[in-house]
Amino acid sequence: MTRQPDSLLSLTDFNGAPLADDLLWKSFRGLMERHGYVFMCNVPDTFDPVAFCKRLGDFVPQYTGVLVGDVTPEPGMEEFYHAGNTKPLYPHSEGYDFEGLPPRYLALWCERPNTGAGGETTLADARAWSETLGEADRAYLCERVFAWETTDAMRHLGLDLHPEHPVLEEHPDALIVRYSFNNLVRGDDEDIVGPLLADAREYFERHHVAVQYERRDMLVFDNWRMLHARNAFTDTGRHLRRIQIAHRPTP
Ligand SMILES: [Fe+2]
Repeated sequence: MTRQPDSLLSLTDFNGAPLADDLLWKSFRGLMERHGYVFMCNVPDTFDPVAFCKRLGDFVPQYTGVLVGDVTPEPGMEEFYHAGNTKPLYPHSEGYDFEGLPPRYLALWCERPNTGAGGETTLADARAWSETLGEADRAYLCERVFAWETTDAMRHLGLDLHPEHPVLEEHPDALIVRYSFNNLVRGDDEDIVGPLLADAREYFERHHVAVQYERRDMLVFDNWRMLHARNAFTDTGRHLRRIQIAHRPTP
């Protein structure tokens, strides 16, 4: 079942004026803490998404090295499992293929919405999923270190990564959930980890919210906590921009 986002922040107030900066931050922090994501709408022309993201932390380069990426259909990538086409993306966390910490936040904002059906970003709370696990399963996902690999599309672009991580990592500041149904190497653990990965995917199907963008809308989510995916679409003019933001350690 698909639900509409319940963590909405209007960037203009009841008079249509831009929300005061301190109110914006207080509301953003509160919604992020509670829901793990914030969908920002009614965005005034004066709002600068890059400057907003800078206040959340340092930017993590995209695979291509750029700090502010584009998500739009790219020629030659139609046949791959890849954000740069119109196909669906399955639930995953960002940066499970990084050697170190995955980005803490991901920001996506809309330069040009798609016409027609589809194109929603979907999100569900993987920390909440982890809390549904029995003690033995949770301990297994914290202790067992798996090999992970990049997607075929990334290998096609010349990046072949093989980091090793558990699915659940107890970082001092927050639980980190890494997840990919396809790109975790299951090996001899298929019988144990296969059903757990399927359980997470079913949890996502039952609990996700779906975000459809208007121009300038911005979604920010806690990538250590939330899984995200995308519905397929047909309009090749759809254009989002994308920033990955590093974790800022608690002082
Ligand atoms: Fe992603």
